[in-house]
Formats: sequence, C-alpha cells, structure tokens
Amino acid sequence: MGSSELINRRHEIESQPESDNEYYPKPSKSFIAVSRPLRYLLREERLVFVVVGMVIATVFFFLIPPSTQNLEKDFGATPTLHPMVRQVHRDREAVFGGGMFVGKVPLGLKRKPMRIVVTGGAGFVGSHLVDRLMARGDSVIVVDNFFTGRKENLMHHFGNPNFELIRHDVVEPLLLEVDQIYHLACPASPVHYKFNPVKTIKTNVVGTLNMLGLAKRVGARFLLTSTSEVYGDPLQHPQVETYWGNVNPIGVRSCYDEGKRTAETLAMDYHRGANVEVRIARIFNTYGPRMCIDDGRVVSNFVAQALRNEPMTVYGDGKQTRSFQFVSDLVEGLMRLMEGEHVGPFNLGNPGEFTMLELAKVVQETIDPNAKISFKANTEDDPHKRKPDITKAKELLGWEPTVSLTKGLPLMVTDFRTRIFGDHDAPSTNTKTKTKAKTNNVVRSN
Ligand SMILES: NC(=O)c1ccc[n+]([C@@H]2O[C@H](COP(=O)([O-])OP(=O)(O)OC[C@H]3O[C@@H](n4cnc5c(N)ncnc54)[C@H](O)[C@@H]3O)[C@@H](O)[C@H]2O)c1
Repeated sequence: MGSSELINRRHEIESQPESDNEYYPKPSKSFIAVSRPLRYLLREERLVFVVVGMVIATVFFFLIPPSTQNLEKDFGATPTLHPMVRQVHRDREAVFGGGMFVGKVPLGLKRKPMRIVVTGGAGFVGSHLVDRLMARGDSVIVVDNFFTGRKENLMHHFGNPNFELIRHDVVEPLLLEVDQIYHLACPASPVHYKFNPVKTIKTNVVGTLNMLGLAKRVGARFLLTSTSEVYGDPLQHPQVETYWGNVNPIGVRSCYDEGKRTAETLAMDYHRGANVEVRIARIFNTYGPRMCIDDGRVVSNFVAQALRNEPMTVYGDGKQTRSFQFVSDLVEGLMRLMEGEHVGPFNLGNPGEFTMLELAKVVQETIDPNAKISFKANTEDDPHKRKPDITKAKELLGWEPTVSLTKGLPLMVTDFRTRIFGDHDAPSTNTKTKTKAKTNNVVRSN
C-alpha cells in the first residue's frame, strides 16, 4: 500500500541515529539540492518513466505534421471524411495557405496588431480580406449595409473579441478610431449596381467622401477598391495604369464606372490636399467561393447554370475576352498595396486572357462535359476586351497572381454546389448534376 510505504520510509528516516551525522561533515545546501532530485529519480525505476515520457512527447511533436493538425482544426476534418472532401481541403490549403480561413504568422515576425475597418466586409472580396486580417491578429470592424453582403460570410468570426460587425450605410458618416480603412462598400456586379443607379453613385461618391473624411480625422491609411471599369471600353490593350480610359458618361453602367472614377479623384484630392495616406487598387474580374450566385457576372452565371443543368448564357458572339483572378490572389495584392509605400493606382488582375467561349469550355470540363451554351444579344457598353498590364504591381509590390483558373474554379464549384443544393458532401467536380435547383436562376435577357 502506498500510504503505509510512505509511513514506513518516514519511520526509517526518523529512526536514523542522530549520532550518524556526527561522523560526517554536514553536506552543503547545494549538494542536498542536487542530490535529492537525483535520488528521487534513481529510486524505483522512476528515471525509466521520465525517459519514456520524453520519448513519447518527442515522437508526437515531430512525427505529426503541423499542416495536418491545422486542416483538422480548420475544417473539422476527421479520418472518416470522404477522400474527395479531403482532397478539396488539401487543394484549399494549397491555394489559401493553411486553410481557407486561417493564415499562418511566421514565428519571430510578430507585429503590432492594428485596428482596421473593412467597409463592404460582408461581401465576396471583403469577407476573404477579413479572414486574412483576422488570421494576422488584427482587430477588424466590418461596416456593411448587407445590400449584397451576407452575415454567413463572416459567421465564423462571431464571438471573436477581435471582430466587430456594424450594420451601417457608408452614405451616412461614421466615427471610429482605426489605423487603416479598406473601402470596398459598393455593389460590384451589373445586376446589383444597375438595380438602383442613383444609390450606386451615392455610395461611390458620398460613401467614399465619408470614409476619406474619417481617414483624415483619425489619421488612418485609406485603400480604395476601384475597378478596371474605369478604363471603359478600352482602346488600348492590355490596359496600363497611365491609360485614361474610354468611358461613356451617360450609359447604364456609368453609375458604377463614373462613380469609381470620381472615387479615385476624391482619394487623390484628399491625398494631395489633406495629406491622407491613400492607396488605389484597380481590380479586374475576380472569382471564387462566396460570390453571389445570381449576380450576372460571367463566371458565377456559367457555374450556377451548369450545376443546374441549364444552358450557359453567352452574350454576343462570345469572342469578347476577360481575365479572371482568383480571390486569394486579389486579397494578397490588396494587403501588399496597403502595407507598401506606393499610392497607385495599381492594376490587380490576372493577365491570362480567355474568351467567353473558352471560359465556358473550362466550366464544361470542371462540371459537366455535356453542358450546353445559349447565345443572347450583348448588353449595352459591354467592353470587348479587358486584360490588365500588371508590370507596375509586379515591380513595386512584388505581386502577381499564382492561382490558375483550373485550380481555382473547382473550389468555387464546391462552394456553389453546397449553397445551391445544400449538399455538404458533394465535393466532386466533373459529375452531372442530378438534383433540382432550390433557387431560381436569374439571367439577364437584354
Ligand atoms: N469582384 C470583382 O470582380 C470586382 C472587380 C472590380 C472591383 N471590385 C470592387 O471590389 C469591391 C468588393 O466587390 P465584391 O465583388 O466583393 O462585391 P460584393 O457585392 O460581394 O460586396 C460589396 C459589399 O458592399 C456592401 N455595400 C454595398 N453598398 C453599401 C453601402 N452603401 N454601405 C455599406 N455597405 C455597402 C454590400 O452589402 C457588400 O457586402 C467593390 O468596391 C467593387 O467595386 C470588385
């Protein structure tokens, strides 16, 4: 029995003749301090247990790869997951770096956390940006009126003390103490920005004025997400930042195109006149998970239509070209621009050029080889060619896209399939969709 052994030992110690001590010099305190733990270790094979424990701990930390630990944590993956789901997770990890929503901060490179506002942070691009900023350890305040944004895009941050979400329209002034402002609030797809054109131009002009006013007041750095639409239907190809564009000031797209051009003007005037640190990004077509499903943008249209077994709508002859950038590439570019020393404007886009028919083919290869194509009349002011020249971003920001369409599209397809059919176990691509769509398709018919 343990207790009786203890009693016995105490008895042995206590029963040692006091006179023993008289025959030996009194051991020094340091000798006692060292010898006691040693004697404890050597007694009853305790040393063996300590060594075995150390070996087990070493094996655990060195043999289990950290990426696997992250994957399990981020996605709740268990060994029972379907192998294809695990493959998609591995692809996501490769593209987004350690999981779609979690980045890695290298050890030893700790920086002071910042307070950052992301307007439009509940939207497609904004929510991915928020994920990266949160993963970096910053405090993020999202300001959004939920016109096209969704709480679902941010729900994984609810409860995190570094995260706040404010329902607010940027057309109204707002006062917050922050270090940086990423100003994204603005509907980005034609379906949405044409829905209420006056509101769109107000968001671009009054909303940007309000956010620039805030930046000036609190001394924050301000980044504007402008657009390739400022080049209009370009007469130069590819488009360089020094090109002033060919924009129709009175067309149905002007609320967006001219709104963004004015927003750029305002940013530069606040920079020159009020010393506000501004950054301007001209974003080209971007795609990825969390895009609005029925927003009339070509990639989301094609993917949603092919998944629902509907013909993919090509406007005009399908020979107009676009470049498609995966959202993680864009977010990387925006953050580099914000942290760097250059005002811009910078083109942020993927220079790889596709015709609409070529894009339809990639979607067919990814989702359904038998997906059909239907042709409709082109919309007014639809630019014929769009391709960014990204030399400036490459040289000054050290940035260029890394995710190809064939790598990024399956990730978007998985997300769309889940949202359209509510099928969480449907990661596969290139399989014919059998389930009937739950939501109705809204395709422009101009
Ligand atoms: N996605 C692209 O391909 C693309 C291309 C060029 C430029 N951009 C720009 O990037 C930004 C983000 O685009 P996105 O694709 O994520 O669009 P999105 O529609 O998904 O996101 C826009 C967000 O802004 C919010 N918003 C709109 N009006 C607002 C207002 N008045 N007040 C507060 N919030 C408001 C919406 O609710 C939404 O959450 C936009 O400024 C857009 O012009 C995007």
